[in-house]
Parts: sequence; structure tokens; C-alpha cells
Amino acid sequence: MKIATILGTRPEIIKMAPIIAEINKRGINQIVLHTGQHYDKEMSDNFFRDLEIPAPDYNIQVGSGTHGRQTGLMMKGIEEILVEEKPDIVLVQGDTNAVLAGALVCAKLHIAIGHVEAGLRSFDVTMPEEINRRVADVCSLMYFIPTEESAVNLLAEGFSRKNLFITGNTVVDACFRHLEIAEKRGFEEESLKTLDIDSMDNILTLTMHRAENVDVEERVRNIISALKELSDMNIIFPIHPRTKHTLENFGLFDELNNLDHVHIVRPIGYLDFLLLTSKSTLILTDSGGLQEEAITLDIPALTLRYNTERPETVTAGGNILVGANKDAILENANRILNDSEFADRMKNAVNPYGQGDAAVKTVDAIEKYYREGNLNIAAPEDIMDSFSRKMAKIDIDITVREFEEAENGLIHMVFDGEKMRFPTDELNLKGMMITYDKRE
Ligand code: UD1
Ligand code: UDP
Repeated sequence: MKIATILGTRPEIIKMAPIIAEINKRGINQIVLHTGQHYDKEMSDNFFRDLEIPAPDYNIQVGSGTHGRQTGLMMKGIEEILVEEKPDIVLVQGDTNAVLAGALVCAKLHIAIGHVEAGLRSFDVTMPEEINRRVADVCSLMYFIPTEESAVNLLAEGFSRKNLFITGNTVVDACFRHLEIAEKRGFEEESLKTLDIDSMDNILTLTMHRAENVDVEERVRNIISALKELSDMNIIFPIHPRTKHTLENFGLFDELNNLDHVHIVRPIGYLDFLLLTSKSTLILTDSGGLQEEAITLDIPALTLRYNTERPETVTAGGNILVGANKDAILENANRILNDSEFADRMKNAVNPYGQGDAAVKTVDAIEKYYREGNLNIAAPEDIMDSFSRKMAKIDIDITVREFEEAENGLIHMVFDGEKMRFPTDELNLKGMMITYDKRE
């Protein structure tokens, strides 16, 4: 079997690293293809070093540009490589332009796609990421899904449960493995050593790069006016290159950088960043990955967005959406700082993203599909199966597996009276309403 992984940005390298390492460990043939969307050393190369994975086999070097240009160049480069390499499956991760380009190319070439971190939805179609992840899900064969909630999103859109694998999120694998290494090593980044982070208290780690925040002057101004008033905190801000450019364009960079309690530093390596996060009192972010890392590391998070495709972090109690609203930022940040019961409740939120074995579960599922011949994509030769869609209220003790065997059907949706549930094989259906497809 040959597995190809496509990645292009910082979070994709971080979240694919545990899977790349697991594939290597099992001696499976693999190639890694970098689109070159992120190209600065501190946004790309340093992560291969910190996460101890080999340099990519290919780099398409698309660089920065408009969405259309970037995606088009990626498609061209990815197609050329995949036609040569002929992998059995291609893995894409998350919701960047690499995911969109990789998924479209593979769908046209009839190569199986595994979407890692599938099923997330913000329901905000103005976000480029929302379009990318939805298109990738339409094109995919295997779905590696962090939580039951995201799996339910896919069921609601009509995807068959057969190909949905709830694995947890590989961000937890990476966090657990590397935090220990980071703690033993200590800070290496000069800017953090100079600041003497270890002697600081009340650390607020800030990151922001989302287009809908940093490209909109009014939002940036609101956020900065809140930061100005958080002078009880030591704000450490490893700045994303996109944000640096827009702050400079808006003439706001110096204004923020001149505040005594705000320390803007260049983007920092993964180990240094994990260590910084773990020592923080609070995280203020619009990053997807950081919302997940915060709840994994038991650090309260305030998210600078009005919606999130990670709602589990909010319902679990570890994350609060504050948008770019100055009052909401200040009120919640001050409460975390001054109300220890409130802060403890946020810290004790249960991590919804699994136990750190997402990479093992993902590669297990791929190997099984390969062995069973399920990665081959071919036009159907059989006359279409006929089935009817039915609905039923279940009032006996019966598991999903037992019901499906008895009815020769596949359960689609399960409602427990309050919300949709994911039909795991062993779920007892008593008292639930279901829809299912029954083969004739
Ligand atoms: C991209 C992803 C976003 C992800 C983020 C992770 C898409 C649509 N967006 O956003 O989902 O959350 O990566 O960080 O795929 N730049 C540099 N050096 C670099 C890379 C970028 O200076 O190495 C600057 C360029 O000015 C560029 C800008 O940052 O125009 C934005 O980069 P781009 O890759 O287009 O999007 P991100 O904001 O990084
Ligand atoms: N990160 C890092 N150094 C930094 C900022 C972030 O290593 O200076 C890591 C962070 O640990 C997380 C990931 O980058 O795993 C998040 O990436 P980003 O916020 O760029 O993208 P998103 O997750 O929003 O797509």
C-alpha cells in the first residue's frame, strides 16, 4: 500500500505529524507532498524539525496569492505528482486550500481520499475554510472525525455511516507526546528566553490570523482596545505573518507593540509554543487548533469569533466565544483572572478530542480498508440496489448492530428525544426514534 499526504500550512504539519509517524512506524510506503502555502521557516520547516518527521518528498511552492490562484496552482502540481506516484489513498487534513485542491484532484483521478478532521461545520459560508471542508467531505471516501458531534453533521448531510470513523483529534496525540519533550527541554526561542517567561505570572497567550478578524480594521481596533485595558496580564503575541501585514497596513502595529504589557514576537516553534500555552492563565485566539489545544492542556480559552466549528469546546465549558467585542473580551478575561471558581470550571472542562490515539485509529482503519479492497474507486457494475427509507420508534432493548442484522438495513439517524446521536454498533436503541435504509 502507498499513502500520500498533502499538507501546506503550519496546523496541517502539526496535525498530520502523528499520522505520518505512525505510517512510518508500520513500514508502509508513503510520500508527503507540501503545497508550499506556508513557506517561511518559522511557519513550515521548523515544524518538521520539532515534530521529528522527515522533510516532505515534494514541495509545489505555490506561495501566497489569491484563493483562485493558490488553489489552481496546487491542483496542477498535485495532479502531476499523483499521476506519477499512484498512491492507494491520499490524506488531507482540515480546511485549508490544500484540502480543497487535493480533494478535487483525487476525485477526478479516482484516487481514494481520507479526510482527517472531517465533519466540522461553522455554518458560516463566508469563511473560506467552511467551503474547503465541505467540498473535501463531498469528495472523500474515508472520514476521520474528531467527535460524535462532527460525525452527526455528516449524517445530517446524508453521508453513509459506513465510512465515518470517530478517531479523536491528532492534535491531542501531538500535544501529549511533545509537551513532555518541551518541558524537559525548556524554552529555546530567544524572544521567549529574553522575556523570561518562567518568571512571569498572569500570562495571556494571544494568536489571531483569521481573515474575518485581521483583515477588518474595525474588528482589529476593537480587539486592540480590549488588550490595552488588560494591563494586569502579560500578553504574549506570536504574530502570524498575515496579521503582521494587516496591522502594519492599518497603522496599528506600533500602537500595540508599544504597550508595556504586550509582547509581540515572531511565530514560534511548536515545542516553545506548547510550553508557553501550558504556562498561560488564559488563551485569547481565533485559531482552530488552539481552541483544541487549550481544552487538552486545561487552559481557559476565549475565542475571538462569533461562531466555531469546534462547538464541543464551548458546550464542555472550556471555551467562550467573545467575537471581536471589547466588553465580552474584558468581562471574561477579568473573570478568569479574578474568579478562581470560574477559572477552575473552565480548566476542568472534559476534553472532547480523545485520548491521544487518533493516529493509531486512523492508520488502523486505512489498513483495514486496503486489505478489504475498499480503497478501489470504480464505477458500479451491479444494477443499483433498491432500498427504502424508513422511520421507526424503538421500544425494545436492541443495539444498532442487532437491529441492522435483523432488518438487513443501515441506520442513518438516531434521535434520543433531545438530540441526534451517532449510531455506534453497541448503542441501545430503546426509546429512540431512528431513520434507516432497508434493502429490498
Ligand atoms: C491559512 C489557511 C487557514 C489556516 C492558516 C493557518 C486557507 C484558505 N487559509 O491562512 O485556514 O488557519 O493558514 O495558519 O488555506 N505569509 C507569509 N509567510 C508564510 C505564509 C504566509 O508571510 O509562510 C503571509 C502572506 O502575506 C500571505 C498571508 O500571510 O498573503 C496569508 O497567508 P495564506 O496562506 O494565504 O493564509 P493564512 O492566513 O496563513
Ligand atoms: N502554533 C505554533 N507557534 C505559534 C502559533 C501557533 O506552533 O507561534 C501552533 C499551535 O500550537 C497550533 C497551531 O499552530 O497547533 C495552530 O495553527 P494556526 O493558528 O496557524 O491555524 P489554525 O489551527 O487556526 O488553522
